[in-house]
Amino acid sequence: YKRITVKSLVEMKANGEKISMLTAYDYTMAKIVDAAGVDVILVGDSASNVMAGHETTLPITLNEMIYHASSVVRAVERSLVVVDLPFGTYQGNSKNALDSAIRIMKESGGHAVKLEGGSEISESVSRILTAGIPVMGHLGLTPQSIYKFGTYTVRAKEEEEAKKLIEDAKLLEQLGCFALVLEKVPAKLAEQVANSISIPVIGIGAGGGVDGQVLVTHDMLGMTHEFNPRFLRRYLDLFSEMTGAFKQYVTDVKSRDFPNEKEQY
Ligand code: KIV
Ligand code: NA
Repeated sequence: YKRITVKSLVEMKANGEKISMLTAYDYTMAKIVDAAGVDVILVGDSASNVMAGHETTLPITLNEMIYHASSVVRAVERSLVVVDLPFGTYQGNSKNALDSAIRIMKESGGHAVKLEGGSEISESVSRILTAGIPVMGHLGLTPQSIYKFGTYTVRAKEEEEAKKLIEDAKLLEQLGCFALVLEKVPAKLAEQVANSISIPVIGIGAGGGVDGQVLVTHDMLGMTHEFNPRFLRRYLDLFSEMTGAFKQYVTDVKSRDFPNEKEQY
């Protein structure tokens, strides 16, 4: 395979080719996602929910993100690996942000970092970029600010928030970000953002007018059941499939069907 780079993504947008992105937090899953030809693998801080069972993304630590990211990097041959900077490791001051990003790049081997927010974190974004570390932005619903928003509902439905979002998108492009995630905003606004900047906009719950799509892998595989937003397309019902397999295993062990003659030494 030819490796995907941050440059390839910008070229894809210029050529009108949509970008595919999914999450992975471990070696085995990343190997499958990479081999399937997904362009970007996000080591999301959604690992806090999906892997660790926390209610929000806030508790996950930089060390934990590095553990997940290094596992993913060892599996990947083609995809671009983007790693979320977790809550509390970049908002305070830009030196701290740079230190966090450097630790991710050095200790995990990831290819880029993602940060949530616009003008509020512009100094941090700039400083990380100065070190030669590619940065992906993230606007709209930013789960690390969930206690400010209060809910996980659609963002930027009002004029004022929509205006700030467009300004933030342009600012992130100006600063030098190579791409941007837009989460849970009206499709019309997302399309407007994608059309007003030249870096790719990758949407989740942001409609089809953007330059690519991202989903949480465990959600699109139907392994999770509690989370049912409208934007989530389920490609499998792995929860049921796996439950069936586990039940069958229990039955086979109890009934002494497993192991059979050929399954022993
Ligand atoms: O952490 C994550 O999975 C994300 C995606 C939802 C974009 O940030
Ligand atoms: Na995230």
